[in-house]
Amino acid sequence: PIIYIITPTNIRAEQKADLTRMSHTLKLVNNIHWIVVEDSENKSSMVSRLLERSGLNYTHLNVLTPPQFKMASKDPNWLKPRGVLQRNAGLDWLRNQKRFLAEQGVLYFADDDNTYSLDIFQEMRYTQKVSVWPVGLVGYLRYERPVVKNRKVVGWFTAWKPDRPFAMDMAGFAVNVQLVHKYPEAKFSNEVQRGYQESTFLTGLKLTLDDLEPRANMCTEVLVWHTRTEKSSMKNEDKLMKKYGKATNPKIEV
Ligand code: UGA
Ligand code: MN
Repeated sequence: PIIYIITPTNIRAEQKADLTRMSHTLKLVNNIHWIVVEDSENKSSMVSRLLERSGLNYTHLNVLTPPQFKMASKDPNWLKPRGVLQRNAGLDWLRNQKRFLAEQGVLYFADDDNTYSLDIFQEMRYTQKVSVWPVGLVGYLRYERPVVKNRKVVGWFTAWKPDRPFAMDMAGFAVNVQLVHKYPEAKFSNEVQRGYQESTFLTGLKLTLDDLEPRANMCTEVLVWHTRTEKSSMKNEDKLMKKYGKATNPKIEV
């Protein structure tokens, strides 16, 4: 089966560094299709070039998050959901590929700043309905994970709201593409309570705990990490500008 990977990506100073790392990981994975969705009014030439140069199979999309749903830089990072319309645009694209209707495939939502072991792609490749696994460095814990008893998922090990229907991070599951076609209404939403994006989508696929396939050695191994790239300070740009009237060369892409 092919793996479709939907990645929302936001414009920021560290974007190219994060996308470079991610694309180099994906180059080591067979039979994938990377759907990169920019949170912007237009497709940027930086992302276009990066995708073209990567040699990966990809689709490049864009959709701007409207200002009322966009986080301000002073907002606490949990205030507004991120990547919602971008993941939905990826889903729309996938569902509109009628030629893929009978295709055996798996869908994974992969944010651009996480760290992915190559092993996680092997774990998800054969997914009947939904496969699940632990995510490291998330939820103010060393990891969060599905609780498995007798080879079945029976609940969630998280500190925060373990009572959610599917209390896992976006990086913690992959779904069979056939299911995505079968339930065309399943999507993400800017209107749901915080922490309920994953549950909203998976509930839309009419899933119950019984449908979940525990991977990564019955959810005992961490193969993906919710790393977050530190925001780089550019304070010396201003300093050089004041002192010499110029700073770094804006023509040099970072
Ligand atoms: C956590 C979860 O791991 C995300 O899956 C979830 O989308 C997010 O919280 C949320 O609050 O909605 P976190 O590391 O805090 O992730 O979020 P980011 O990595 O900053 O954003 C998630 C993805 O959306 C990234 O791929 C990012 O590039 C993209 N993004 C971010 C946008 O498309 N637009 C934005 O305005 C911000
Ligand atoms: Mn992130």
